[in-house]
Amino acid sequence: MEAVIERLRADALARIEAAADAASVEEVRVALLGRRSELTQLLRNVRELPESERRAAGAALNALKDALTAALAEKGRALAAGPSGASGCDLTLPGAPAVAPGSLHPLRTVLEEICDIFYSMGFSRVEGPDVELDYYNFTALNFPADHPARDSQDTFYLNEKVCLRTQTSPAQVRTMERVQPPLAFIVPGRVYRNEATDASHAAEFYQIEGFCVDKAVSLADLRTTVQQFVRAFFGPGREIRFRPHFFPFTEPSVEVDMTCASCGGKGCSVCGRSGWLEIMGAGMIHPNVFAAAGYPADAYTGYAFGLGIDRIAMLRFGVDDIRLFYENDLRFLNQFRGVS
Ligand code: DAH
Repeated sequence: MEAVIERLRADALARIEAAADAASVEEVRVALLGRRSELTQLLRNVRELPESERRAAGAALNALKDALTAALAEKGRALAAGPSGASGCDLTLPGAPAVAPGSLHPLRTVLEEICDIFYSMGFSRVEGPDVELDYYNFTALNFPADHPARDSQDTFYLNEKVCLRTQTSPAQVRTMERVQPPLAFIVPGRVYRNEATDASHAAEFYQIEGFCVDKAVSLADLRTTVQQFVRAFFGPGREIRFRPHFFPFTEPSVEVDMTCASCGGKGCSVCGRSGWLEIMGAGMIHPNVFAAAGYPADAYTGYAFGLGIDRIAMLRFGVDDIRLFYENDLRFLNQFRGVS
């Protein structure tokens, strides 16, 4: 009897599954459970079985009848609910990608755009190590031994001789040790400073270093290069100005300002009412830096500049807190999808 019941069950479930509409479900129901069905016949014959088998056979056949009744009802419901009811998914919906495609981080977008502008002016790209020797980060760049920037308040030291680079400038000497002039390089990278963070200071941020060395490179070449960059990146109509400043590795040194993009130079809250925004440090490479690189004295001149990507990205996108770039909050980052 057990074998008969299992055959009936398998056969019945296959027929129920195959039913494609309400009418065929009804047909199958009559064939499986109707008066002339095999199951009904078997149930009817239970009382003729020997007494010892009667009870178990009756229970098994009734259980099968209940199971098939439930399966038919379920099939009827699934067909009534339409395609989504059957398997729990709507096969007519367009497919959703299993993994949402990523996009470039706004800082990376700006960094690559700036690099592209300098490539178009003939610069090549090099990168330096994030974990840097104190020698390249400071000594070779003409920082005196007691310069405050070497202080562990500003610099993350790993040991006495090794630190996280505080600037991309060390790549100047690393590159000049390998390459003879004429040369023009840019060095994008992340830099680290042991600083309290606020809306305009992060403990890690991005810079692009640039430097160009040849026989008669002048401050006028620096000015032209910066002006070209500003025009290409921010659009026409921005003035630049050089303000005297001090960096140990350049002489003379300047800070470069650009007329404020928000107010066009009239003065507003973005530029602190001055009409000018500082965009980079720059200058003529100090003879001591050439000496550290092993270049002969008085053979070459060159300019260098360093600009902060985060600041430029803040200006470009109107972001007023640098920390937003590092929090990885998708509500912030998703606003930059497809932006370049
Ligand atoms: N390294 C400087 C800083 O992090 C920026 C800088 C200024 C880079 C002048 C230069 C330069 O190459 O000439 O503050």
